[in-house]
Amino acid sequence: MEMKSWSRKSLLGLEDMNREEIICLLDKAKEFQKVLSQKGSVLDLLKGKRIINLFMEPSTRTRVAFEVAAKTLSADIISIAESSSSLTKGETLRDTALNIQALGADAIVIRHSSPGSALFLSKTIDVPIINAGDGAHEHPSQALLDIFTLRENLGALDGKKITILGDILFSRVARSNLWGLKKLGASVTFAGPSTLVPEGFEKLGAKVTHNLHRALENADAVMLLRIQHERQSSSHFPSLSEYTKIFGLSSNQEKILANKTLILHPGPINRGVEIDSTLADCSRSLILEQVSNGVAVRMAILYLCCTSFDKK
Ligand code: CP
Repeated sequence: MEMKSWSRKSLLGLEDMNREEIICLLDKAKEFQKVLSQKGSVLDLLKGKRIINLFMEPSTRTRVAFEVAAKTLSADIISIAESSSSLTKGETLRDTALNIQALGADAIVIRHSSPGSALFLSKTIDVPIINAGDGAHEHPSQALLDIFTLRENLGALDGKKITILGDILFSRVARSNLWGLKKLGASVTFAGPSTLVPEGFEKLGAKVTHNLHRALENADAVMLLRIQHERQSSSHFPSLSEYTKIFGLSSNQEKILANKTLILHPGPINRGVEIDSTLADCSRSLILEQVSNGVAVRMAILYLCCTSFDKK
């Protein structure tokens, strides 16, 4: 059934995916979620495949979730970090990827600080490329697990109001979520200080507000983002404590939220900055559910990309 809607070899971003492809992948993830609910279950769907996790930026959730996903599908997976690779000796990304392919990789999962790095590799080498985050451009597996989690808790997303609050300017998570959520019929509001949420985002189809009250009232879910200091060369607000006072989510602002508004965060959390612990750990928080769902979603990504590749 899935092959009718899925013919992609690589997963580069949600901007160029259509609604049917997204739903196909989420449905596959739902099947895998049932398998994962039986502790210790392993499938042999990718037995004999060799997957390389090439992470040029730090990661906990994404890297480990791809490892667990690959192992649950019986694939071999090897993780490489930039600091321990020959990139530190001046080798180019292209040469690194060509060498990994020559070593027998059947798919490469890549995280890199440069926007377009996954697309570049997909044009350079033959095996499926999975984008695990390319600069501030896209983080498709994160957005897919966010959307999976939202659908699990809200049902169909048509007409649902999702607010994404924080450092939108430097966020690949915000961009991928915008593309995916809109294709599933949700309304997306980007909120935060004007320096981090320029009005120009309206041209991409998001509503934009710099008013926290307006951002939170009527939202079905609010997704917090951390300040991405690693991508900012200058400060975009006077001080972190001022940011927290105006745009941080604490029990004071919780009063603005409707009773059923859900809280999400892609992680890592900076407790006491964009969200305080009371809300990060409260019953309406889906933060750890997002992480768990990330395994089923990445199983679906690996399975669909690697098996559609076989058929070509
Ligand atoms: N959300 C996310 O990408 O987390 P990691 O950086 O830990 O992978």
